[in-house]
Amino acid sequence: MKKLSIAILAIILTFSISTLFTSCGDNEDDANDAAKEMVAENEDTTEDVAEDTTEAADYSAGKTIYTNKCMACHQENGEGVDPSFPALKGKTADLDIVVNGTDGTAMAAFKDQLSDQEIVDVINYVNHAWGNNADAITLDDITSAKK
Ligand code: HEC
Repeated sequence: MKKLSIAILAIILTFSISTLFTSCGDNEDDANDAAKEMVAENEDTTEDVAEDTTEAADYSAGKTIYTNKCMACHQENGEGVDPSFPALKGKTADLDIVVNGTDGTAMAAFKDQLSDQEIVDVINYVNHAWGNNADAITLDDITSAKK
């Protein structure tokens, strides 16, 4: 009789332990699923943020170049100094002038001073500063503007 109850006890014990393990496994799976979902949701959010930044483009690189290379003449407010330095505010930047300069004036050919990418950045900044709102330019535009 004693042996039998020990055997039953052992069976019950084995059963409950194995149930415990199985349910633990289930929990792990659930936890994994939840974690995966969270990662997936986070990825969605990251994409959303990335899309948003593209829409509200970042002109900080161009702004730095403007401050270092253009501001002395065209001024921080883009209004220039009349009559020596024309305003850039209220215009679409003349790519030809920025790339090739204007002989006989203080406006240098920036293709000699800046990389193509830097010219793209500074023009896109100028074209979106002080209420300006022109289409974004690309590296190809610089290539075709070069004389
Ligand atoms: C040393 C002074 C000086 C600096 C620095 C300078 N510019 Fe100019 N910029 C001028 C002058 C002078 C003109 C007028 C040239 C002309 O009559 O064609 C001009 C003309 C321009 C124009 C044409 C404006 C118009 O009325 O159509 C643009 C665009 C321009 N500059 C952009 C820039 C950018 C961008 C930078 C910096 C990368 C820069 N400039 C740096 C003096 C300067």
